[in-house]
Amino acid sequence: MSTKTYLVTGGAGFIGSNFVLYMLDKYDDIRIVNVDKLTYAGNLENLASLEGDERHIFSQTDICDKPAIAVLFERYQPDYVVNFAAESHVDRSIKEPEVFANTNVMGTVTMLNAAKAAWEQADGTYGDHKFLQVSTDEVYGSLSIDEPDTFFRETTPLSPHSPYSASKASADMFVKAYGDTYGFPINITRCSNNYGPFQFPEKLIPLMINNALDHKALPVYGDGANIRDWLYVADHCKAIDMVINGGRLGEVYNVGGHNERPNIFIVKAIIAECAKAVG
Ligand SMILES: NC(=O)c1ccc[n+]([C@@H]2O[C@H](COP(=O)([O-])OP(=O)(O)OC[C@H]3O[C@@H](n4cnc5c(N)ncnc54)[C@H](O)[C@@H]3O)[C@@H](O)[C@H]2O)c1
Repeated sequence: MSTKTYLVTGGAGFIGSNFVLYMLDKYDDIRIVNVDKLTYAGNLENLASLEGDERHIFSQTDICDKPAIAVLFERYQPDYVVNFAAESHVDRSIKEPEVFANTNVMGTVTMLNAAKAAWEQADGTYGDHKFLQVSTDEVYGSLSIDEPDTFFRETTPLSPHSPYSASKASADMFVKAYGDTYGFPINITRCSNNYGPFQFPEKLIPLMINNALDHKALPVYGDGANIRDWLYVADHCKAIDMVINGGRLGEVYNVGGHNERPNIFIVKAIIAECAKAVG
């Protein structure tokens, strides 16, 4: 079997770095080209355990930088693209929506075009290549507290509410359009909230843990009734691997943990655990 090359964008971020580590631990015979701009959210320390591992090639590159991305496709001839790179924090998207439109929408279109140009064959097909767009269940809007046992389905209408989720929904539409228009080989995964190692401390769970341990206020939106589903990050990485290597072309796959909880439940659980930890 020949060595497969994965071009992973955003692989120095929270989920991307977990994915790089997961894949290189699982498969001996793959190579990962990790393309990350290293914004405030990217941290190469997450990948320190890979130092000296020639299967991991890092490039500090912006996914919006067309010429630089084309060079990476030419140099490494990736079999697959897994597009994690994004601005991911809802609060920041409310303050700076353009940054989100640029990276999350234009960056995705840049990656689609680069992959299409590199993979297109003389007969208009794309061989065994695949472009996997990592998206979020936030494109569906919010779960209702009045319907506790409902889940998002792949057919749930998109109803994004924040500039973040609007930019992700828009990127998803471009990815789907490339599949429909050009027969381009795509999958989209839409995952619920992740938690686990390397998460940037501005996100709910690490923020609450740090604040609770530092005896600081725990900022909760409204009455904390907003319901989210929670998934451990390694389970998300496993699902992405399954979709790249076994997903039906053109499909959207929701990835969830069946752990729907109001935010206030999560915060109270963290307070209880922190209280136990400090005695
Ligand atoms: N965190 C979650 O709970 C969650 C849930 C579902 C889906 N997602 C999606 O998963 C992906 C990764 O999320 P995360 O939480 O790891 O995000 P993150 O913010 O921790 O990491 C994003 C990474 O992308 C990089 N990046 C940002 N802009 C870039 C650009 N223009 N070019 C190249 N790299 C750039 C950053 O440097 C960082 O390393 C995102 O697409 C997000 O929408 C996240």
